[in-house]
Amino acid sequence: MNKDKNIKPVQGKLGVLLPGLGAVSTTFIAGVLAIRKGDAKPIGSLTQMGRIRLGKRTEGKNPLIKDFIDLPKLDDLVFGGWDIFEENCYEAAMKAGVLEKDLLNSVKDELEQIKPMKAVFSNDYIKLLNGPNVKTGENKWHLANQLREDIRNFKKENGCERLVMVWCGSTEVYIEKSDVHSTIEKFEEGLKNSDPNIAPSMMYAYAAICEGVPFANGAPNLSADIPALDDLAKKNVVPVAGKDYKTGQTLMKTILAPGFKARMLGLDGWFSTNILGNRDGEVLDDPASFKTKEVSKLSVLEQILQPDLYPDLYGKLYHKVRINYYPPRGDNKEGWDNIDISGWLGYPMQIKVDFLCRDSILAAPLVLDLVLFMDLASRAEMGGIQEWLSFYFKSPVCAPNLYPEHDIFIQLMKLKNTLRFLKDEDLITHLGLDYYYE
Ligand SMILES: NC(=O)c1ccc[n+]([C@@H]2O[C@H](COP(=O)([O-])OP(=O)(O)OC[C@H]3O[C@@H](n4cnc5c(N)ncnc54)[C@H](O)[C@@H]3O)[C@@H](O)[C@H]2O)c1
Repeated sequence: MNKDKNIKPVQGKLGVLLPGLGAVSTTFIAGVLAIRKGDAKPIGSLTQMGRIRLGKRTEGKNPLIKDFIDLPKLDDLVFGGWDIFEENCYEAAMKAGVLEKDLLNSVKDELEQIKPMKAVFSNDYIKLLNGPNVKTGENKWHLANQLREDIRNFKKENGCERLVMVWCGSTEVYIEKSDVHSTIEKFEEGLKNSDPNIAPSMMYAYAAICEGVPFANGAPNLSADIPALDDLAKKNVVPVAGKDYKTGQTLMKTILAPGFKARMLGLDGWFSTNILGNRDGEVLDDPASFKTKEVSKLSVLEQILQPDLYPDLYGKLYHKVRINYYPPRGDNKEGWDNIDISGWLGYPMQIKVDFLCRDSILAAPLVLDLVLFMDLASRAEMGGIQEWLSFYFKSPVCAPNLYPEHDIFIQLMKLKNTLRFLKDEDLITHLGLDYYYE
């Protein structure tokens, strides 16, 4: 951290590089283009619609976050990305079927200009997809270097001042951290030997960090969440963040669970099931990709409820998560929860939550916020893991000696206090000691 908090000013264009131009990416890009034209509002985006309280409540200072801290304007964003399919962003958005045709047609010319670069991809990591737009190379080292070249070319060709990369690709199969991930030397050796424990998303993350480009991961696969890339990010002073956008069911979980705990209500069981019919759902139909998602979704309650500290309330919690691919629903997922809680003297009660959500509509504003905040972190020279952005993730990455914070209200406080800190404003503790100081 730069101690004097000299944040470099926003200048020129910010290039947004997205590995995976599917439902989330195209909904994000088309949305920004429509908002730029004044045709729609950035609902769900904290950077665009959120306010931040400064000073005491009596002072009435609540500026918009985007007016409080220097962030790039939407007009200054330029988009690019990679995909295994050759369709341009307009075609991909039409296929994803999230946004209405009229909206997409209103920004068709710009969307058609965004054509995917050839991807680094292998069926060893995503079993159920096949596409023609894929790079070839002698080994993983050569492939990673091709990504680095893509990044440099994009920056030059689009006249960008700075870049940010956000992984919006499909969920890869479950991989555990192992020796090849432990140091950058071993990782680079692993790239040269095409080590099977190095997945494509790690190669994108590596390429970004080498090129000084902040990297955020919207999927649950490890990507930059390995010691080798964490160390490299710190050394190169590049921000990294992840993993797995906190959108539908898990968003609800991290809103509700802190409430139950605050009231000391017990939890005996939480059964969560999802039906979804988009390409994400199709990929998650493979047990190896589902396992990556399952681990991410299950981790949330354990940390919020702290069963070791509250055994009478949460010691016997049965937590189950299911995801089922069900094509008729497309991107309009249904997340259904049955929650068995207990109250005074252990009397049982039930809560049912049926969230008829739109997956990519919930994810798109998170991509926008991450782009703008990761660029801010980079301009403030905050290298390494950005824990203050845990607010956006189901499996927030944190330092090895810490546990991740899942409670959405603590996450929001941490995010806003980080912004206050960066601007030399008083941090807000909600302490209100006026009685004692009058
Ligand atoms: N929508 C949400 O609410 C949400 C929430 C949390 C996480 N996510 C994650 O975000 C990611 C994107 O979701 P989506 O709905 O847009 O999925 P999608 O299937 O519509 O898009 C993913 C795209 O990534 C491409 N891809 C896969 N591997 C690639 C590679 N190696 N290089 C380049 N492109 C690659 C695929 O071809 C596809 O077009 C998924 O991993 C999903 O699990 C989404």
